[in-house]
Amino acid sequence: MLSPVISALRPSPIQVMAEKTRQAIQQGRQVVDMTLGEPDFPTPAHIGAAAMRAIQDGATRYTPINGTPRLREAIVAKFKRENGIDCAPADISVAAGGKQVIYQAFLATLSPGDEVLIPAPYWASYGDIVAMNGGVLRPIMTSPDQGYALAPEDLAAAITDRTKWLVLNSPSNPSGTAYSREQLRACADVIRASRNQRFLVMVDDIYEHILYDGRERCTLAQVAPDLADRILTVNGVSKAYSMTGWRLGYACGPRPLIEAMTKVQMQINSHASSITQAAAVAALEGPQDEVARRRAVFQQRRDKLLEAFAGIPGLRTPKPEGAFYLFPDARACIGKSTPAGERIADDVALASYLLDSGVALVPGSGFGMPGFLRLSYATSDDQLEIAAQRLAQALNGLG
Ligand SMILES: Cc1ncc(COP(=O)(O)O)c(C=O)c1O
Repeated sequence: MLSPVISALRPSPIQVMAEKTRQAIQQGRQVVDMTLGEPDFPTPAHIGAAAMRAIQDGATRYTPINGTPRLREAIVAKFKRENGIDCAPADISVAAGGKQVIYQAFLATLSPGDEVLIPAPYWASYGDIVAMNGGVLRPIMTSPDQGYALAPEDLAAAITDRTKWLVLNSPSNPSGTAYSREQLRACADVIRASRNQRFLVMVDDIYEHILYDGRERCTLAQVAPDLADRILTVNGVSKAYSMTGWRLGYACGPRPLIEAMTKVQMQINSHASSITQAAAVAALEGPQDEVARRRAVFQQRRDKLLEAFAGIPGLRTPKPEGAFYLFPDARACIGKSTPAGERIADDVALASYLLDSGVALVPGSGFGMPGFLRLSYATSDDQLEIAAQRLAQALNGLG
């Protein structure tokens, strides 16, 4: 009944663990849920108020496919103000989530066998979206020793004539790695020097506001404006404004690509919700103090967790520069046995054992790095403290 493409898709490891966690909680087990990729804060009140006004004012009809002119203006201003990117409203795509923007970009451009390069570990959805559109994901391995950052020489070696896209996600889900201006310049140099001068670069900045230690925000199109006609800069309101359920993402990029993505969207869902679009204008143009306050809270949580993790045997956790995830190297735990005598064969077995110990997290194999784990710290301080204690106890118990 199903197409070969869909039959070949494996369920996302994040969804699998989230489902197992839901079941465990339903059965009455005490579990700290660290699987989720969404801020635990409510949407700021002024954004909700803008949505209610939009309903009252009758903004309830179809909008242009790529967003209302008002929202596209707000996005153009945002790119200029926050990212130093010059673009026009016609260079903007707006869809129901960053995920849809990414989907449309790949659907609009990939032919069977086209390769998409991506530093591993990477957000699992990229792989599925590429596969659903006939492409082939080519991970470029990184290591905890290099802070999971892409090495320019590895990028240079990975580019072939079949390369259609390079994806750069900074700060990264799952590693929290954020690229500095110098690192982006080095990538740009490789792109300029490559023999393949046709491939595109998808820069996913969806976590840009969750960037720590006063690091400077920067993005490839700003650092290498000469490459702007090959760069799609993807963003959205989900993570910065705690608006995951509202569904709004956007991008700026070369006009022919944006037009092709709009063509795709026309036959999918036409456009993002008119009400959400009005709320997104308020998010982008309204006060930004909540964004800064929440960033500070996430940074405190990261620091507390890292401190607690330093004492946990078997985990080596590089310090993330952004996003709200830790990505510890847990390879030292693989091959050990649980107190019940079960062998931990891989990271999936380890995640399962830790779920039984009261902490739900996602195995790294889902992000292209077996032997690692991803934990989201978008949860309360109390829960994080309990999680760290349970992890320490569970991993101490491995022999
Ligand atoms: C790296 C990355 N990009 C894009 C998205 C898409 O977010 P949304 O579709 O909510 O805008 C996510 C969501 O988890 C993500 O982690």
